[in-house]
Amino acid sequence: MTIGSWLGTLLPLVAAPMAGGPSSVALMTATARAGGFPFVAGGYKAPEAMAAEVDELRALGGPFGVNLFVPGGPAPDRAAFGAYVEELRPEAAVYDLRLDPEPVLDDDDWSAKLAHLLAHPVPVVSLTFGLPLGSDIEALQRRGTRVLAGVTTPEEATAARDAGVDGLVAQGTDAGGHSATHDPARTLEPVATGALLRAVREAVGLPVIAAGGVDGPDAVRALLDAGAAAVAVGTLLLRTDEAGTSPTHRAALADPRFDETVITRAFTGRPARALRNGFIDRHDAAAPVAYPAVHHLTRALRQAAGRAGDADRLHLWAGTGFRSAPTGPAADVVRWLAGAR
Ligand SMILES: Cc1cc2nc3c(=O)[nH]c(=O)nc-3n(C[C@H](O)[C@H](O)[C@H](O)COP(=O)(O)O)c2cc1C
Repeated sequence: MTIGSWLGTLLPLVAAPMAGGPSSVALMTATARAGGFPFVAGGYKAPEAMAAEVDELRALGGPFGVNLFVPGGPAPDRAAFGAYVEELRPEAAVYDLRLDPEPVLDDDDWSAKLAHLLAHPVPVVSLTFGLPLGSDIEALQRRGTRVLAGVTTPEEATAARDAGVDGLVAQGTDAGGHSATHDPARTLEPVATGALLRAVREAVGLPVIAAGGVDGPDAVRALLDAGAAAVAVGTLLLRTDEAGTSPTHRAALADPRFDETVITRAFTGRPARALRNGFIDRHDAAAPVAYPAVHHLTRALRQAAGRAGDADRLHLWAGTGFRSAPTGPAADVVRWLAGAR
């Protein structure tokens, strides 16, 4: 089995799913045309919006995947959530926003999205934040869809294999955006993607896509040499022409005032790696384990901050490789990363 044949693409390079804007149809299309593997970021979107993007990708005629957030996780601690609402009131007041003290819990329309993907099968579905029922995985597979699970430890990899998935996305802690961890309350011990890849491959015999911290073609090559079936890249695509990254986020990635990334629950209640900013410094310590309640709590505030160009209050998702994120056409970046030009 060659690397390319497993994903069905020319290059062993995956444009990682990035919900919240960056994974635009233009970015996915450019990735596909360059020979990489694109993912529709199904998270946060209404099922109809996800379906529309799936149709556009399908029309390209090549392989692609759809990424979904698996619902679940612990119920929020009401007292801790309430205290966090109070703590954030001055931040919201900057934009004349009132925070709703009632935690909003939803399942990101899991059932409707799954039903759509069962009725209109796609080549690959990847799952993050946990594992669904084995029967959901089987139902997708019966329709010819390959199912991948995001994992952050060998234990999660074993659980995913036992649940019946076809492959894994092993995400090291250098990755930008949300950790795929199945346990949002866990303190994430730093693990380099290469080390995690080796540990996961030792634990289970499934094909593994490696993700997290890629800062150039040498990192991609090293992960492929360590046995990755492909390498997924997020942060290094954020500044490309086609990415849907907001102007404030784009500018911050190149702004010398932001010189490090940290993992925080401050924005969403789930651990995620972001450029360190004032919001994180002020609130990381108090942020409860409460996803998606904290995501919904801070959403309007983050949207207002984005519109105002206020990088100090925005979730600036970024992996440790952010300083190497190039501008220019995404196809050039995909080919450069894969060593194909
Ligand atoms: C802006 C942003 C949004 C992300 N959104 C998602 C998502 O919707 N689903 C998901 O499984 N992973 C998401 N991730 C994680 C990526 O899929 C991937 O694991 C990560 O970007 C790889 O690390 P890198 O950013 O260092 O390349 C996101 C990452 C970023 C930077």
